[in-house]
Amino acid sequence: MEEKNYILVTGGAGFIGSHTVVELIKNGKTPVIIDDFRNSSREMLNGIEKIVGSELIFHNIDVSNKNDLAAIFTKYSINGIIHFAADKAVGESVNNPLKYYKNNIGGLINCLECALEFNVENFLFSSSCTVYGDPEGSTTVTEESPQQDANSPYGATKQMGERILSDVVKSGVNLKVLNLRYFNPIGAHESGLIGELPIGRPNNLLPYVTQTAIGILEKLTVFGNTYNTPDGTCIRDYIHVVDLADAHVSGLDWLEKQSNSTFEIVNVGTGRGTSVLEIIHTFEKVSGKQLNWEFGVKRIGDVEQIFADVTKAKNLIHWDAKKSMEDAVRDAWNWEQKLRND
Ligand code: UFG
Repeated sequence: MEEKNYILVTGGAGFIGSHTVVELIKNGKTPVIIDDFRNSSREMLNGIEKIVGSELIFHNIDVSNKNDLAAIFTKYSINGIIHFAADKAVGESVNNPLKYYKNNIGGLINCLECALEFNVENFLFSSSCTVYGDPEGSTTVTEESPQQDANSPYGATKQMGERILSDVVKSGVNLKVLNLRYFNPIGAHESGLIGELPIGRPNNLLPYVTQTAIGILEKLTVFGNTYNTPDGTCIRDYIHVVDLADAHVSGLDWLEKQSNSTFEIVNVGTGRGTSVLEIIHTFEKVSGKQLNWEFGVKRIGDVEQIFADVTKAKNLIHWDAKKSMEDAVRDAWNWEQKLRND
């Protein structure tokens, strides 16, 4: 076995995974990436290599395959795991729940079993603000805010994933877990070499905006304008994906310093809420392009407004978001243009 401390990054070719790999390398870590490209592309790894100027360690592995996964732990001396690999389309999860339970829960269990079998103490899990459901009363959520029943199988896998991790830590094993609840990641690396690569018609707002602006899609529909918000459209906490990636580096540093088993939850957002119309106006400002959009009916299951209380992120892992909404929208647009021109 090689004598180096490696960080296993499952789903490292994905949107958040790829940006995290870049930040890990910039901070002196050596990621071992696994991905099966079910929702990502090898191109993303080429982009990372161009940014960091070195070759990546990569294996095409499905986390659902325990034997393949265990072989990675035999080959490398893994010091920490960042577990991104999961399916994430809310609508698809309603139509195909077993896919979500199998991959998201099965994959997590395999990673945890390997962590325990190979004595890997540091575990970072990708969770989501979806676990809060529709927050009643206050729209700013802290890690202690009550959770509603998940309204999709996808959301249920994140709630269940958190529960599994917490139960495993409580069982008395040697394991330090940091559970990061992401708000809405947007943007791309400023180089334009990596970014979001939605397969098929995008579900999320920003890729829909940029694909409309570049002419792949005809028109953006804003889902609802009668919400109880200042301009009537939904409010989210959009966070630049590079800031989000940085939270993993800070989180890992924090985990490595802990001497006892622990399970902590941290919100990763900006603490600021932005409406759909504000996003459109920011896009038009930074791109100089007029976006083709119209108001449509509300999307079923949409939360009216939610954004993060980020006090704990600052105090516990000493991280906060640095980039602005303009940065995020400009980088997303730059990425879209490079993608289509190449
Ligand atoms: N929106 C539109 N038109 C579109 C797409 C989105 O108006 O074509 C609006 C939505 O109604 C919402 C906002 O843009 O108000 C953001 O929508 P996204 O789909 O980008 O993001 P969501 O907040 O709905 O979903 C995100 C993650 C999910 C996660 C969920 C938890 O993508 O994985 O947060 O709340 F489950």
